[in-house]
Amino acid sequence: MGLFPPSRRDAIALTAGLALSACGRAQSAPAAGPTPPLKQTAPFPVGASIVFDQLADPSAMALLTREFGQITPGLEMKMETVLRGDGGFDFARADAMAAFARTHGLRLHAHTLVWYIYRPEAFVRIAADRGAFANAYRNYILAVAGRYRGQATGWDVVNEPTAEDGDGYRACLWREAFGMDYVAMAFHHAREADPDAVLFLNEYNLESLPKKRASFLRLVEDLLKRGVPLGGIGTQMHMGFDQDPKAIAPMMRELAGFGLPIHVSELDVSTRARRIDLGGVEARLQAQARLVEALAEAYLALPARQRYAFTAWGLRDKDSWLRSPLQKGDPDDRPLLFDDQGRPKAAARAFVQAMGRA
Ligand code: XIL
Repeated sequence: MGLFPPSRRDAIALTAGLALSACGRAQSAPAAGPTPPLKQTAPFPVGASIVFDQLADPSAMALLTREFGQITPGLEMKMETVLRGDGGFDFARADAMAAFARTHGLRLHAHTLVWYIYRPEAFVRIAADRGAFANAYRNYILAVAGRYRGQATGWDVVNEPTAEDGDGYRACLWREAFGMDYVAMAFHHAREADPDAVLFLNEYNLESLPKKRASFLRLVEDLLKRGVPLGGIGTQMHMGFDQDPKAIAPMMRELAGFGLPIHVSELDVSTRARRIDLGGVEARLQAQARLVEALAEAYLALPARQRYAFTAWGLRDKDSWLRSPLQKGDPDDRPLLFDDQGRPKAAARAFVQAMGRA
């Protein structure tokens, strides 16, 4: 089955292999002792993003299953992986991730159905025919979300719909065809495909850009008013160490105002040095820990029914997308909760501490 009959076999670039830059760099600051498994300290699911290649890395998988109770496939359920150039589907990697989750009793958070960054040839070549395009859009969502029906706890249905600076909404192939209705359509199709998954709108910089948050929440409100089956809000939380921890709790309260489940969906805190850096890397790791603590506390303060999950965007520092050359990353960045050797960092201890204050 595909969007339409196979005609061409364009290769869609896969980024999975390149996304991991396992440099095996020595850590200058050893982590100070073990922490209890994160998932046992929290009264909500704690997740991590992983990618296909890591399924064959025993130390990564040991860390994952010890510390986390949920996975988000980092690439495998995205259009770049699932949709072939000829309009057919390739579910090999997505299925492997789903099977891994099943085998290990992990919750599966699926990511993502519609993302503005893609302009796949298979869609572009039928864009002029609105009917065919609308069918292909629906077929894609039905096929992908339908395949994991009964297994995916939630889906990021639309990813990053708000303009970078918060001034309105992003342009994308689907908006060109359907206007902003592309968002509502995606949710209806996802609901048709999977009656039980929690359907998320996922966005970043909501903690740091009030204008972006306001635009995002206007969209949420509009969708809810129209009866669109939006079931949750994802706040990615890709932060930098020099962000203000005090901005996090007000964001969390505002997002929670609709009563929907909230997902901290992609946490990482870049420690990349700024031009003027008086503190050095240890100070940046401490600042990172303070941000994680503020986030964990703000999340814990939500009503239990609104705590969908708290997810780190990767396992160990060396696994982070922020080190990847593809992202013009910094090979010295240490954005995650565990160091290159899989030892808990100050940020992991800060999370545990915040949970202890429940
Ligand atoms: C990133 C992956 O981690 C990278 O490997 C890939 O090259 C690009 O995408 N927001 C999202 C995620 O919603 O899907 C992105 O993941 C990070 C930003």
